[in-house]
Amino acid sequence: MTTAWYPVARTAEVGTTPVPVGAGGQAYVVVRLRPGGEVSAFPARCPHRLVPLAAGAVVEGRLQCPAHGWRFDQEGRCVDIPSLGPHGTPPPRADLPTPWAVEERHGWVWLAPERTATPVPTRASAEPERAPAPPDPDGAAFDNLDPSLEHAWHPVALSRELRPGGWLQVRLLGRNWTLRRDGRNEGGALTADPPAFGVRERLGVLWLAPTEPADVPLELPEAGDRRFVIGWLPPERSPGPAGPLADTFLDATHGPFVHASTIGAPDRSEFDPAPVTTEPGGFSSVREQWCDNPVDPEVATGGRPLRQRRRTTYTYRAPFQLRLRQEFLDSGATTTILYLLQPEDFDSTRIYVCLLLSSGPGLPLPAPADVADQVALQRQILEEDVRSQAALAVTGLPLDLRDEVHVPADRLGVALRQALCDFMAVGRRHQAAA
Ligand code: FES
Ligand SMILES: [Fe+2]
Repeated sequence: MTTAWYPVARTAEVGTTPVPVGAGGQAYVVVRLRPGGEVSAFPARCPHRLVPLAAGAVVEGRLQCPAHGWRFDQEGRCVDIPSLGPHGTPPPRADLPTPWAVEERHGWVWLAPERTATPVPTRASAEPERAPAPPDPDGAAFDNLDPSLEHAWHPVALSRELRPGGWLQVRLLGRNWTLRRDGRNEGGALTADPPAFGVRERLGVLWLAPTEPADVPLELPEAGDRRFVIGWLPPERSPGPAGPLADTFLDATHGPFVHASTIGAPDRSEFDPAPVTTEPGGFSSVREQWCDNPVDPEVATGGRPLRQRRRTTYTYRAPFQLRLRQEFLDSGATTTILYLLQPEDFDSTRIYVCLLLSSGPGLPLPAPADVADQVALQRQILEEDVRSQAALAVTGLPLDLRDEVHVPADRLGVALRQALCDFMAVGRRHQAAA
């Protein structure tokens, strides 16, 4: 029953910061796009990646989404998508379906979700309803307890968290497992209780497969390469599902908005997407671009120019293994970041991040202080990602491409959704065969 007027907020409460409100059981935000201007109302979530617009901001008279900076005018029209560049045209699906009307009367903001013949009431008979949680997408979202996740190796701890002869309790897919390591040395046999298909150690991480795994392990050649130094971040925890986190780690266009205080440069929003190559168990994507390399010692001596070619390679394996490699092609300096996600519970994901750094062939290994600086920077970046995930308030990653609006810069995100669909299908086949 939404053909009515709903008092949603006191007029004095609504300024240029979006306020989440509810009307007829639906979630909206109300905001003034100019100080002292009239009130506008918008649906609660951005159509792009369903981020709550209550976390958005008014910028130059438009409501700007906090994740990738899409901007909406008073009518809900999407007027700017930074990744499309200054001449890009947002697709019509990017527009927000605004409610039929919003009015200010008698000290209240009134909202009519649908066309109504009733005039705005003269006074509110009760307090406004509480703002409901922004709605999840209509289609199914891939969450941390999806049954297909039984059929994969999952990271459950760093190797160093389980000493020889010790035990460790871990959480995976909503269940507790106790891991034990035999013996006196690091290589002692591993067991799990309750019994699992397997427990193993790989890349400095302990992995558990609840039932026969169907995933393809991510290769990390850097781990066995003596030109690389390894630095682990302390494991982090996110109060949200792993799917949207993996989406964030693959997403190159949130930097200027989510990482403005660490790495994001606001003038580098335009994004030229690279092709995606499908591979067994996932995909990879390579792009080359020119960028400054001020830390190259040869730049200071004039041996190499500041502007250098950089190759960025994303490699993904379902469900939650990711590798990002950045190589300066002239010096050979490489930074690789490994991201592994442990779906602990419906609302909890543990995050393992490892940095592998090389100065390039024939050059000394990166100094411990430089590695520590890089690890500290990545921790800050990760904290920003986790904070933005916490604000997302979603239960999983929508796999139906119609639930979100995709632009060319989202190629990797689309590939992620498709790879997880394939992963689910394989998991289902395994379950049917069991
Ligand atoms: S711009 Fe809103 S979620 Fe991407
Ligand atoms: Fe990020």
